[in-house]
Amino acid sequence: MPDELQRRGWVRFEHDTELAAWVTAAGPAAHRAVADPANSDWLRCRSTWFAGVNVLPNDATGAVAGSGPLRGAAVDAIRRLGLPADRWDRGQVSVIYPGYPQPRAGEPEAAFRFRRDRDAAHVDGLLPVGPLRRRLLREPHAFVLGLPVTEAGPGASPMVVWEGSHEVMRQAFRTALSGRPAEDWPQVDLTDAYHAARRHVFENCKRTVVHARPGEAYLVHRLALHGVSPWQPGAAAPEAGRMIVYFRPELSGPITDWLARP
Ligand SMILES: [Fe+2]
Repeated sequence: MPDELQRRGWVRFEHDTELAAWVTAAGPAAHRAVADPANSDWLRCRSTWFAGVNVLPNDATGAVAGSGPLRGAAVDAIRRLGLPADRWDRGQVSVIYPGYPQPRAGEPEAAFRFRRDRDAAHVDGLLPVGPLRRRLLREPHAFVLGLPVTEAGPGASPMVVWEGSHEVMRQAFRTALSGRPAEDWPQVDLTDAYHAARRHVFENCKRTVVHARPGEAYLVHRLALHGVSPWQPGAAAPEAGRMIVYFRPELSGPITDWLARP
């Protein structure tokens, strides 16, 4: 499994009873977080997307609502890679509803087209900073772990990943950051390197739809280009939408681990 992650930049894990038990217990907490008026600011794109960053009130073991710690084959694989599997961030509860995408409030036309035609493809952790939205490495995540909560069909806005893109990005950022001391990395403008690498990925890497069901999981490399595909008319999903909990713990070591780790 870890080999697949290294080669393709993502890997899917089959149904796992330990993980399924966690999803069954944690699911109601995820639904409550989405319904909580205090979290309504996370609704975007004319209410077709609930971004829900860090709204799941789990503890560092992944436990929430009596679920017990997060366990299963995906967690074991993360541990075997030497990546953090025992200090979970608060989960993101990402929900997509029929009709996604619609323009975000104030979203420029080109940005909306990118969302619609290019799945709003991005690498996590490179945040747009300042009025010019220059991309800086501000959140060096260790990986992205996706845990579906609702049963939704493959047309219900699954994640998409560009296979092998993590190595294209790794090389591009290595070049852009070479010779820069680690303490400067969060200030280095990576925008141009990132955009050039993204163009290269669109032309050369395969776009793969990553569909999974509750009890299954997928692990995406922190440097992989990924996004959310548009909702296909008639796609199967419950009223609660296509709901996925994402964990994205940050690396705890030096920031250089962002490029050096598996
Ligand atoms: Fe992402």
